[in-house]
Amino acid sequence: MNILVTGGLGFIGSHTVVELVSAGHTPIIVDDLVNSKLEVLNRIEKLTHVRPVFYELDLCEEEKLDMVFQAHPIDAVIHFAGLKAVGESVGKPLEYYSNNLGSTLSLLRRMVAHGVKNLIFSSSATVYGTPPSLPIKEDFPLGETTNPYGTSKAMIERILSDFCKANPDFNIALLRYFNPIGAHASGELGEDPNGIPNNLMPYVTQVVVGRRPYLTVFGDDYDTPDGTCIRDYIHVVDLAIGHVMTLKKLVQNPGLVIYNLGTGKGTSVFEVLEAFEKGTGVKVPYKVGPRRPGDLPRLYANCDKAFEELGYKATRTVEEACRDAYNFQKKNPNGIE
Ligand code: WQD
Repeated sequence: MNILVTGGLGFIGSHTVVELVSAGHTPIIVDDLVNSKLEVLNRIEKLTHVRPVFYELDLCEEEKLDMVFQAHPIDAVIHFAGLKAVGESVGKPLEYYSNNLGSTLSLLRRMVAHGVKNLIFSSSATVYGTPPSLPIKEDFPLGETTNPYGTSKAMIERILSDFCKANPDFNIALLRYFNPIGAHASGELGEDPNGIPNNLMPYVTQVVVGRRPYLTVFGDDYDTPDGTCIRDYIHVVDLAIGHVMTLKKLVQNPGLVIYNLGTGKGTSVFEVLEAFEKGTGVKVPYKVGPRRPGDLPRLYANCDKAFEELGYKATRTVEEACRDAYNFQKKNPNGIE
C-alpha cells in the first residue's frame, strides 16, 4: 500500500519507514525538517535500497499538502509530525497548539477531499495523566495532562474521536506510546534530539560519548523499590513494527481503535543504568538531583489488547535497546549531520 508518513524523517517515523519498506509498502514521506535532518533519507536508502519519495513541507501549508495527495494515490496515513519536547512546550504553548492541532486539521481536510480513509495517529501514554491503577489499560479515562505537548496529544485524540463519529467510513487507530528508546541495530538511525535531551536515553548516550559530564537522576526518593521512577521502555524497532501490524488491522476494521504500545514491564532509572552497563560494558556516571516536576513514580502498560487484536508483542529487551542506542551514538557522536 502507498502510505503517507508525516514526520517520516524523525526518530520513530524513520524507523517505521524502514519497517514499512521491508513489509512491501511504499512510504511517501512529508517532513518539515524542524526536528529532523535530510541525511536520514540517505540512511533509509542505505538500509532499504529504496529512496522513498520525500516532500519537505509544513503540514499547515494545506495547498502544498494537497499537491502530494494529487500526485500519489494514498491508501493510508501514519501521522507522526508534531512538536514533541515536553519541557519546551511549557514555554511555547501557542506554537505547540497551533502546530500540532493545525497540522492535524489540515491533514484531515486533505484526507476527506481525496477519499483517504485510513489513519494511524502517533499518540502518547501521557494522555492518561495520573492513572487510577497499574498497569494502564486503553479504557482508562483520559487524565490531567501536565504540559502543552501532552495536552495537544489529548486534544488531537478528542478531535479524531469526534471526526470518526461524523465519518463512520473512516478507520482511525490511536497508538499510545510508552517510552520509546533504542535505535536501529545498524547504528544508521537513532534518537537525535535538538539541544539538551529531555528524555533519559539520549541524555545517557550523550554522557557516555563525552558530550555531557554526567547524568542527573531526577530523584531517588520515590515510593518505588530503588527510589527512582519506573517506566515502560519499548525498543523503537518494536514500536515501528507495531505500526505495520496496526495497518493490516486498520483497513479491515471500521471506526476508531486505541492500542497501548509498550512492553507491559516497568523498569526503574537505576535498572536502566544497570541494563546499559550490562549491554554495553560502559558505566554511566551520574549524580542524584532533585525530582523533576510532573514526574510520576510509576507508569507501565497493559498490552493485552494489542496482543489479542493485532497479535502484537514487543520482543526486544531494555538491555538490547541500550546497546543499540549506544551503538548509534558512537557512530554519530554529534548526532546525524
Ligand atoms: C524517564 C525517566 C525521569 C532524564 C516523556 C514524555 C512522554 C514520552 C516519553 C513522547 C523519568 C528520568 C530523565 C534525565 C532522569 N514522549 N530522567 N534524568 O518523562 O517518562 O516521558 O518521554 O511521547 O510523552 O512525557 O520520559 O525519558 O523524560 O524520563 O532521571 O536526564 O527518566 O525522571 O523518571 P517520561 P523521560
